[in-house]
Amino acid sequence: MTSTSGAATTGDPQPIDLGRPVAGDVVALILADHVRFEALLRQLRDSSSDRDAVRHALATLHVAHAEAEERHVYPTLRSEHAIGAHAAEHGEEEHAEGHQALLDVLELTEVTGEEFDEAVEELSRVLGHHLAEEELTILNPARAGVPEQARLELGLAFVAERQAQIDADCGRVERVRDLVARAARNGLLTDDGDS
Ligand SMILES: [Fe+2]
Ligand SMILES: [Fe+2]
Repeated sequence: MTSTSGAATTGDPQPIDLGRPVAGDVVALILADHVRFEALLRQLRDSSSDRDAVRHALATLHVAHAEAEERHVYPTLRSEHAIGAHAAEHGEEEHAEGHQALLDVLELTEVTGEEFDEAVEELSRVLGHHLAEEELTILNPARAGVPEQARLELGLAFVAERQAQIDADCGRVERVRDLVARAARNGLLTDDGDS
């Protein structure tokens, strides 16, 4: 059997599918992305993967997902009184830590060796921690405290922002660097141990 992928003839790397949801319950949409994060981290740890493509896909999904949560999901959950200010701010701090850990992976010239492995291990730790905490402390209150119709409307805002970010190539290293610098200026990367 031969591959039917169109990219094979050009020699371009196969683009990694980040999904293109158009609607849904915002909780389900966020969880679907969390599954994608875990799959991409596993691919990044696999030395037989196209690690350069995987790290850029992971950066794109992380920036798009985090921006959509910060611009739409967290503010709406706060206005619905499902979560408090602390949970939203803590989520933003953890997104900033994720961007920093991603930047450390993106800036390495080699995608093999001890330095790469250590950076990927740290990224796995930071993202894994955030996914678990967000599911426990933000998505559970969203399920319990936000009516289904509002979760569907929030889903539309989430996917629109997510796709606009992806279309703007939000995972490029310059953008991630800017986000990390902005987060540092705003005091989101103080590493006060309150995680
Ligand atoms: Fe999330
Ligand atoms: Fe998040």
